[in-house]
Amino acid sequence: MKYSNRVLKIFQNPENYGKMKNPDGIGKAGNIVCGDVMAIYIKISKNKKKEAIISDIKFETFGCVAAIATSSIITTLAKGKTINKALTIGKQNIVKQLNGLPSTKIHCSLLSTDALFEAIFDYYSKNDKSKITKEMLKRHESIVKDQIEIKKRYKNWVDNEEKQLNK
Ligand code: FES
Repeated sequence: MKYSNRVLKIFQNPENYGKMKNPDGIGKAGNIVCGDVMAIYIKISKNKKKEAIISDIKFETFGCVAAIATSSIITTLAKGKTINKALTIGKQNIVKQLNGLPSTKIHCSLLSTDALFEAIFDYYSKNDKSKITKEMLKRHESIVKDQIEIKKRYKNWVDNEEKQLNK
């Protein structure tokens, strides 16, 4: 497996990394296969046309090289965009910006699209529930379900580690 130079460069120096004070929306997502997790924080403001835009965005990722690079890319792609446009950012856009990803790492890009979606969902839940469609609710529920499963798996892993230590 080989990463593009662009992936490695972004991984070494990601943009918009860190926590945000008083975000308008927080989104968390996890990868059920590897257990990696990511959080995206967004600030929303209005543009001249009075449309809601993502005026600031940050991320924290505990995951692989691809997960960190894709998180960085999604934040740069989403920053300044209207919420509707940000919701259309897909894995193809991210992979293109990274000059490709190894095929076994494509799933890592889904973590960032899910986390961004969840941050927007969180913002709508707190500010304008009428914007939440049935499809959005379904996607949200499936992401939350995965997170519960990851916590369960993680707990087992921690229990196992403790057993090993107490041997
Ligand atoms: Fe877990 Fe990449 S291997 S997100």
